[in-house]
Amino acid sequence: MSALILDGKAIAAAVRQELKATVTQFRAKGITPGLAVCLVGEDPASDVYVRNKVRACEEVGIRSVELRLPATTTQVELEALIDRWNADDTIDGILVQLPLPKGLDAGPIVARIATHKDVDGFGMENLGQLTAGKPALVACTPAGVMEILRRHSLNTGWSLRGKHAVVVGRSITVGRPMALLLLQANATVTICHSQTADLKSFVSSADLLVAAAGQRHLVQGDWVKPGAVVIDVGIHRGEDGKLSGDVDFAPAAALASAITPVPGGVGPMTIAMLLANTVQACQARRVGA
Ligand code: GUN
Repeated sequence: MSALILDGKAIAAAVRQELKATVTQFRAKGITPGLAVCLVGEDPASDVYVRNKVRACEEVGIRSVELRLPATTTQVELEALIDRWNADDTIDGILVQLPLPKGLDAGPIVARIATHKDVDGFGMENLGQLTAGKPALVACTPAGVMEILRRHSLNTGWSLRGKHAVVVGRSITVGRPMALLLLQANATVTICHSQTADLKSFVSSADLLVAAAGQRHLVQGDWVKPGAVVIDVGIHRGEDGKLSGDVDFAPAAALASAITPVPGGVGPMTIAMLLANTVQACQARRVGA
């Protein structure tokens, strides 16, 4: 079997086009969605992510406020910034790029972001809503995976209902919300992680595999169940400069029915869903149903 390639880059472009149309309607009513992004310190990877987020905002008509602060910024200063943005009616979403430099504690910063402006979905209230089966603002990467799966279902008739979904990884940012979203979509969900004994046996029984462990080629291609849908959240740069994922792509693609590539799979969806969350937050707070 040669797998269908799930083209996240193309899906993200389609999502951005749809958002642009919605934002145009909001702006016609005099409401411009606003996203505030803060980068503390000079981590080069974070610098690229933040630049891409700001550029994507411009493309769909969202106003972005970008603040770059030195690594010497204090916890109190950062918390005061969040308070200011929380109180600013023109700002619908607040994002503090992680990781923060040493000496700053991300937990209280994330917790300080107003729930209705928490477009990362990392705050306790939004995580709780998701856990209770009433998702509000959902973490962008797992939301992006669900959008890929939603379109795959529409295009092919494939369904998650009753399927065995295996999520490899248990992070607050991806693995846990991913598992809850799949559960919400009526899959039977197993969460595996670094301490799981016999990972291969779980992966081999997965109708849907979501690999989000952050370890290059952790999942060997021949572990994949024939006909499975494979979603690879990992992204790793090898010594040769090439990007690869948590799944060994070529042998996995030989067995899967559909698979996301790296790059060009889940990655572009994360930013698209950040924009979607910002538009959703604006709609909820300023536009109305
Ligand atoms: N760092 C890497 N990915 C993310 C993300 O999705 N949100 C934030 N705030 N920081 C990140």
